[in-house]
Amino acid sequence: MKHAPTLSVLLLMIAFPLLGGAKAASPATSTTPTTAPDATATLPTKAQAKSMVTYRSVVMQDLGKNMKLANLVAGGQIARPQDLPGYATVLASAPLAELFPAGTGPDVVDTGAKPELWTNQIGFSNAIKKYNDATAAVTAAAQTGDLPATKLALTQVGDACSGCHDSFRVEDNK
Ligand code: HEC
Repeated sequence: MKHAPTLSVLLLMIAFPLLGGAKAASPATSTTPTTAPDATATLPTKAQAKSMVTYRSVVMQDLGKNMKLANLVAGGQIARPQDLPGYATVLASAPLAELFPAGTGPDVVDTGAKPELWTNQIGFSNAIKKYNDATAAVTAAAQTGDLPATKLALTQVGDACSGCHDSFRVEDNK
């Protein structure tokens, strides 16, 4: 019986860092370093970083295809105006802010993203905002069925794509 509390404390010391709860819940382990495991736990492994680069490449290629399709229809070359809202939705729902988490930069994996993307977070957020504003305008125009207005709004999206690429994408990547 005398040893039971000691054993519990030992188990807590082992269990809490594993659960990521050491900081708040274990006064008995105050000398145990708790920040380092937590900090590394939030970074992706190299394999996860590679998967993210693959994923965002495919998302980007998808955006490129949807831009082409939308421009063909909005430009009147293809008479399928009913498809425009769908293309607009794809463009407007690109999860740009989630595609570039910490630990997926050129210091870790082979990527066409510049290191500035992670050091200039404000600039990157502004580029995303510009893109989101432009794609929202495309969505609105596509819903009215006004092809010239949609075509014009798509031009703004194209500017937002290349604006971000100019700042945050390595030239001649692929
Ligand atoms: C907010 C920034 C940003 C916006 C907006 C953006 N891109 Fe990108 N794009 C990037 C970055 C960064 C890369 C490099 C990603 C990598 O290699 O990890 C990239 C890569 C690409 C690629 C190469 C994909 C590959 O690896 O084969 C294409 C194609 C592309 N983007 C098209 C587009 C199109 C089309 C749009 C607009 C409809 C767009 N992008 C909007 C940042 C952006």
